[in-house]
Amino acid sequence: MNPEQIKNAILKLKDEHNAIILAHNYQREEIQLLADYIGDSLDLARYSAKVDASLILFCGVDFMAETAAILNPKKTVLIPDPEARCPMAAQLPAQLVREAKREHPGAAVVLYVNTLAEARAEADVTCTSANAPLIVNALDEEEILFGPDRNLAWFVQQRSDKKIIPLPDRGYCYVHRMFSPADIMLLKERYPDAEVLVHPECDPEVQNLASHICSTSQMLLRAKASPAKRFIIVTEVGLVDRLRREFPDKEFIPALETAVCKQMKKHTLEKLYLALRDKKHVVRVPPNIATKARAATERMLEISGRATHD
Ligand code: 13P
Ligand code: SF4
Repeated sequence: MNPEQIKNAILKLKDEHNAIILAHNYQREEIQLLADYIGDSLDLARYSAKVDASLILFCGVDFMAETAAILNPKKTVLIPDPEARCPMAAQLPAQLVREAKREHPGAAVVLYVNTLAEARAEADVTCTSANAPLIVNALDEEEILFGPDRNLAWFVQQRSDKKIIPLPDRGYCYVHRMFSPADIMLLKERYPDAEVLVHPECDPEVQNLASHICSTSQMLLRAKASPAKRFIIVTEVGLVDRLRREFPDKEFIPALETAVCKQMKKHTLEKLYLALRDKKHVVRVPPNIATKARAATERMLEISGRATHD
């Protein structure tokens, strides 16, 4: 089948199975164009919690698809390529969280959603890059065990008087660690009129050069609201496709063309088609883990929703 035929076959299967396609902002452009909904981790969690389709084809990495499965225990969630695993999410084993809880009995556990379900089941509440300071500051506890991303922990610490204890000591995203302050400085000199939008998974020295530090969807909102005509985008390059598509009159300069998340790019149209055709690669979270992880995820959605409606 050629790409057009695959696309049509996917749309037909989608109708037959009453399915919906969700895609993260870093997905290949052809997948974004086919998706019913595109977003960051928070958008996708919120959206998946209210869809009435019976099947969700989730084009993102493992922890995002797990979130959709956790929030939708009666629906089937498929992932086109089960090897799309976020390496950062694997950096925090559940056992490490249990040990830290024993060492810090008075601390609240706030885990970035970029964590696998078993560890998330140990959390009091989860957070995303769009709401991490808000979630931490909404809690009563003064000590916060926070993981796995050390840079996001630093970002939160700059915005909170609470004591943030990173867990593990050096969790990181290999894509966001590719950006160097020297490269960003050069771009700033070359484009002095540009706003610099930086993801909080970047190193503190890179965050310090930002005009705004945002989640991927917050970058879209900023590009829309800002009077600036030019933006330096300091995150995975996939987001730049969407920015250029949605704001054709503005200019988007990727800070690094090679900042590619290999795991996000594992999904292809052909794999979407095969997963839908065979209803394969079902995302399964054991019910006892799902119940606990759901409580932590729903608490995040509740705090985040409350802030939106304040
Ligand atoms: P966002 O929630 O900001 O889209 O980030 C997800 C992610 O994995 C960033 O690397
Ligand atoms: Fe994980 Fe980094 Fe890829 Fe995001 S960009 S999915 S944090 S490896």
